[in-house]
Amino acid sequence: MSSSRQGKIAVVGAGFYGSTTALRLAEYDIFETVVLTDIVEGKPEGLALDMNQSRPIEGFETKLVGQTTGADGEGYEAIAGSDIVIITAGLPRKPGMSRMDLIETNAKIVRGVAENVAKHAPSAVVIVVSNPLDEMTALTQLATGFPKNRVLGQAGMLDTARFSNFVAEELKVPVGAVRTLTLGSHGDTMVPVPSQCTVTVDGQQRALTDLLGNEKIDELVTRTRNGGAEVVALLKTGSAYFAPSSAAARMAKAVHEDSGAVMPVCAWVDGQYGISGVYLGVEAEIGAGGVKRVVETQLTESELAALHEAAEAVRAKQADVSNL
Ligand SMILES: NC(=O)c1ccc[n+]([C@@H]2O[C@H](COP(=O)([O-])OP(=O)(O)OC[C@H]3O[C@@H](n4cnc5c(N)ncnc54)[C@H](O)[C@@H]3O)[C@@H](O)[C@H]2O)c1
Repeated sequence: MSSSRQGKIAVVGAGFYGSTTALRLAEYDIFETVVLTDIVEGKPEGLALDMNQSRPIEGFETKLVGQTTGADGEGYEAIAGSDIVIITAGLPRKPGMSRMDLIETNAKIVRGVAENVAKHAPSAVVIVVSNPLDEMTALTQLATGFPKNRVLGQAGMLDTARFSNFVAEELKVPVGAVRTLTLGSHGDTMVPVPSQCTVTVDGQQRALTDLLGNEKIDELVTRTRNGGAEVVALLKTGSAYFAPSSAAARMAKAVHEDSGAVMPVCAWVDGQYGISGVYLGVEAEIGAGGVKRVVETQLTESELAALHEAAEAVRAKQADVSNL
């Protein structure tokens, strides 16, 4: 057995997001065990069985374990000892819905899950993906009582990836040549940061603003902001999960490997950018223990103003979730 394969990670919620995340994590072949749970009887067990049967073909050894959990927390023993827990439990959007329309239903689900995580995996780093993201991340920290750096949310990795994909398609360059950044909230007050976006052309790093006009950048920014809704409108029955699961899995990998990779995530902000006391999309160094450090980036005046606006919008909503 490879000595590099170690530790246990749990994914709560075996829907589209949770199941694709679990498979990506297992295919990294760096964990001993990936646990997948859900409240739908047999669903996580069935998915884990199916995924385990792909191991001889794909050539990974990580073992997947499926576990149904009950209303009173039965079955949660399966996540005991997990170093990382990813919370994907909750309803996704349907066409025409905003992420905020999910808040009451998902707050109940996420609070219950978080309490069980605190009980059974008290040392875990928790990565939240359930929507509305910033609010569910804040709620998870409250309900677990974990240190704020040990609870983080996934949004910026996905929003940034969407932005990069649109830029690459527009400029007909490889996605690997593009670096974009979005901060703020995972919603209407997402803050794209064009001033920090670059594209490598013929080996030279160029500013995005040199390659595309303001109008075109605004168009791509709007498409990025509505990136989730665009997929929801096409699927009609749920929301995106391939790119979202890539984002959450990469964050978990950075925690597992203690890599210190700088990623845009939803993290507790404590003085950075002149903002305090709120979970917000910022760049942060990710490693063992979760967020090691929030990294401040040079912003233009208008980008900074937009980030402050986003912070105040999510602060108001995050205050509400403590009562849900
Ligand atoms: N942060 C992001 O960028 C992002 C992106 C896409 C989706 N999402 C969100 O992720 C969540 C999951 O999306 P999905 O596409 O997998 O939805 P889905 O409907 O396919 O799956 C949700 C799963 O959660 C399970 N569940 C419900 N209550 C539970 C509980 N108490 N304990 C355990 N499991 C429970 C359901 O049975 C279901 O299997 C949604 O809230 C969605 O809005 C977030």
